[in-house]
Amino acid sequence: MCGIVGYIGNQSVVDILIDGLHQLEYRGYDSAGVAVQCGEKINVYKAEGKLENLSSVLIQHKKEFTAATLGIGHIRWATHGAPTVLNAHPHTCNCGSLVIVHNGIIENFKELRAELEKKGAKFRSQTDTEVVAHLIAYKYEELKDLTKAVREATKEIDGAYALCVMHNDEKDKLVATKRNAPLLVGVGEGEFFLASDVPAIIKHTKRAMYLNDNQVVTLTREKMVLTDAEGNILPQKVETLPWEPVALSKMGYKHFMLKEIHEQPDVIRNILVGKLHSVDEPIVLNEVKLTKETLKNLNRIQIIACGTSLHAAMIGKYIIENFCGISVDIEASSEYIYRKTVTDEKTLVIGVSQSGETADTLTAIKQAKAKGSHALIITNRPDSAMAREADSLIPVSAGIEVSVAATKSYIAQVVSFYLLAMYMAEIKNSLDSATLTSLKADLIQIPQKIEQILSDKNDIKECAKKYSGTRDFIYIARGINYPTALEGALKLKEISYINATGYPAGELKHGPIAMLDESMPVLSILMTGSVYEKLLSNSEEAKARNARMIALTNSKDAKLNDLFDFIIRVPEVSELLSPLIAMIPLQLLAYYIAEYLGKDVDQPRNLAKSVTVE
Ligand code: G6P
Repeated sequence: MCGIVGYIGNQSVVDILIDGLHQLEYRGYDSAGVAVQCGEKINVYKAEGKLENLSSVLIQHKKEFTAATLGIGHIRWATHGAPTVLNAHPHTCNCGSLVIVHNGIIENFKELRAELEKKGAKFRSQTDTEVVAHLIAYKYEELKDLTKAVREATKEIDGAYALCVMHNDEKDKLVATKRNAPLLVGVGEGEFFLASDVPAIIKHTKRAMYLNDNQVVTLTREKMVLTDAEGNILPQKVETLPWEPVALSKMGYKHFMLKEIHEQPDVIRNILVGKLHSVDEPIVLNEVKLTKETLKNLNRIQIIACGTSLHAAMIGKYIIENFCGISVDIEASSEYIYRKTVTDEKTLVIGVSQSGETADTLTAIKQAKAKGSHALIITNRPDSAMAREADSLIPVSAGIEVSVAATKSYIAQVVSFYLLAMYMAEIKNSLDSATLTSLKADLIQIPQKIEQILSDKNDIKECAKKYSGTRDFIYIARGINYPTALEGALKLKEISYINATGYPAGELKHGPIAMLDESMPVLSILMTGSVYEKLLSNSEEAKARNARMIALTNSKDAKLNDLFDFIIRVPEVSELLSPLIAMIPLQLLAYYIAEYLGKDVDQPRNLAKSVTVE
């Protein structure tokens, strides 16, 4: 996380940097800053909090940089050091001649800091980044060449970084490098752009080069030079980005989250086009590059993901096991990477990620591939680092998701799992054709049913109002909707800061039930099917402890009126597809509670949409 941008050319640099940072706000919004070559010196401007605060600072200094055409910028998600102005990037060396922005974490920063302090470096911040500024500055004193100084300094750094560097003694130059963090160079006419991600540059150019780890790029207005860690010149792979600039608009909705929730029916329809033609035809999933023979003989799958994508993965496990009879393990990427995992060439590893950049998942995928596993990536960003690692790539095509709380990308991931599981079941012949036909028919109906929920949100709004004053919230479910309970609780936590937890309802009696009293709302995701009666009993147990009972249900069962204080009703749906329906009111409930509480729905505190640090 954190976003970095850089520009060298002939246009007004500050406008380009600020617009670029605005496009990268999904990566963090704790503080922002820019450094600009202003005649004989480099000026640094920073502000705590959101980008708009930096814009206010810049207005006061406008005269200083009107002619400036070279600079770097940063938007921060704090790792080391509180989100203050002092800790905001850019960071400088003692004299301010060398200025850097950084995305990543320098793991050996304490050791480096101690050494640099002995040499006379004066530290002003608590960040890990500042050591890099001093380190490169010392290298520069020896080498008198910015590119070489950057290259030599990075040899002493452990950790992940994308760095953009400028120096007042080399006024017409930007130097950048990366390791385990994203960075690309946009190529224009007499100008170059640097950015953590495509949206920051796409307005200006579609020609770009992704940097590989340990490469160093030196940019002047005339040319770009790419070198490896030893300083050898490398060929440049400039590609045309498959992107169109999109004007990100809320389309009349108060927040991006609400707009993205409403986009879900069309997102599903778009995914189904070309893949699910009709109920009698097989699923088309040319994206899966495994041979039919390999698929038939697969006996193990591992799915790796983080956050909301992990919840989609849990539903994936349920349906792949159910439809295909293949054993599936699920793991949080951050746990997967630091233990001895049993993965081999006979294991299919599926990575799920909205952004395709999440550091933990990316590392896990690389590890699994190194052991010979086929990596199938399900992502909303087919141009991402994870997509570039994929042996098979299923783009979920949910469109750009702006709100930090994932909604439409989650539904798109879950739909992709249904298609994958049906595709594999057809190859394995593991599901009878009547079940497959009815699953396909039901899946085609899902967008319409979601539209029905979205067309009348009054009950959900009322429920949000009634329960918004609570400090805690419990979500319970069983079977295929257990991940829905986890995801519903996560949505509420993320944007309202209410302490919400999802439990498998059968586990309630093994501890969590102790928390229940008349102040605790318990929301039961009561979808008809194999575990309906069981969940009803678990709900009775909670009711007996005076909890405030809420049902989210597709059942018309009259006895629910006695058991529950509040009932949110959804359309009829088969149990196997019910997570796609049950999730929608939970997204809306979280949204309306947060909105009612006046929270910053699209940019909740402490979070970022893309997490590129481990
Ligand atoms: C961040 C976001 C979450 C997201 C998670 C995984 O924490 O705030 O919404 O679920 O990263 O991201 P990914 O892009 O890998 O799905």
